[in-house]
Amino acid sequence: MENPFVYGRVVRGKYFADREAEIAELINDIASGQNVIVFSPRRYGKTSLILEVLDRVKAEGLLTFYLDLFKVTSQETFIAAYAKEIARLQGGRIQTMLKKIRDLLPRLVPKVVMKGEKVDVEVEFEFDPSADKAPLLDDLFEAVATVSSQTGKRAVAVFDEFQEITSWDAKGQIGRQMKTHFQMHENVSYIFMGSKRHLMQELFRNKNRPFYRFGKHFSLEKIPEDEFAKFIKTRFEETGFQTGPDAIREILQAADDHPYYTQLLCHILWDRNQQEKIITKESITAALQEVFMREAHAFQGLWDMLTLKARQLLVALAKEEDTQVRPFSSDFLRKHNLGSASSVQRAITRLLEEEVLEKTDGGYQFTDVFFKCWLKEM
Ligand SMILES: Nc1ncnc2c1ncn2[C@@H]1O[C@H](COP(=O)(O)OP(=O)(O)O)[C@@H](O)[C@H]1O
Ligand SMILES: [Mg+2]
Repeated sequence: MENPFVYGRVVRGKYFADREAEIAELINDIASGQNVIVFSPRRYGKTSLILEVLDRVKAEGLLTFYLDLFKVTSQETFIAAYAKEIARLQGGRIQTMLKKIRDLLPRLVPKVVMKGEKVDVEVEFEFDPSADKAPLLDDLFEAVATVSSQTGKRAVAVFDEFQEITSWDAKGQIGRQMKTHFQMHENVSYIFMGSKRHLMQELFRNKNRPFYRFGKHFSLEKIPEDEFAKFIKTRFEETGFQTGPDAIREILQAADDHPYYTQLLCHILWDRNQQEKIITKESITAALQEVFMREAHAFQGLWDMLTLKARQLLVALAKEEDTQVRPFSSDFLRKHNLGSASSVQRAITRLLEEEVLEKTDGGYQFTDVFFKCWLKEM
């Protein structure tokens, strides 16, 4: 039997829990042409959520465009990836598709690529790398809106891990060009998603950036505990496991309701308890040890990269029970022997940039609960 808990890739269908409120809100925004900026730490479920939303609006007849910038490392790869998604936008038979693409993107040369046994045909693009890219980008940035008006269908265009654009568009030129086009498109709702909060904020909250006030900000939170608990219980019971309410509460508590870590912990629990088919307190403790073992390598790598001050501060924060602790208070600094408030401030700024910590209303918290536990045990 297949493990019903999936982690580390997009989750769909019955492997996807809840998010009904978020789905409804996004579908509403899309229907009204609202632009949205979605942010959350990594592994909270942004990609899974948006692909679910796209599935649903596509079923209602909307055009959907999805581009992941995670692996895009230059203007050239951006153009190639963007054009490929434009080709996918309309589907249809290859001949008609090619004709439409030539109209939309006349400066690109489409090339048909066979994938596997002729079952899958894909279009890739070639272009002169020395040519001026600006007109080509103009074509691309117009393409979704053009298809939308040609077909009379409303469209939604998603840019996942959008903050990555800053690594190769440092001066913001491409961003500005994008915005010039996108702001004119009433039939398209643009959705920008990102995991790196400080980069996303710089892009969308800085007055001097082109996308300032471009859309509504949507912060994706964890899955509500009750809904996640229901999901976990069903997945276990469907596969013949017994769970008490305490066990599920304990799983969620151990993983701090984190979508990815909860699934990872459940996945391991399911694997380890094939024989007994029952989840107990002891089995959760053992599974947690396995999680730490599996993640130790990554934690070690992260630890190696930190400055001494950052290490001291993180260990102090991990050991602190009070989650509202103020790391600059003289009490805290003295108790943990941390030196001056200004040096702690610098360390915190770095840790926020590196997404090790995140700001909460009252203080700071670890983005990765298990890293926190790992530090606590040092
Ligand atoms: N709605 C959900 N239901 C169940 N698990 C989820 C859900 N959203 C996220 N997850 C878990 O988190 C992992 C990361 O999800 P993903 O969509 O890739 O997040 P992100 O794009 O924010 O990094 C998934 O592999 C899955 O284990
Ligand atoms: Mg993602």
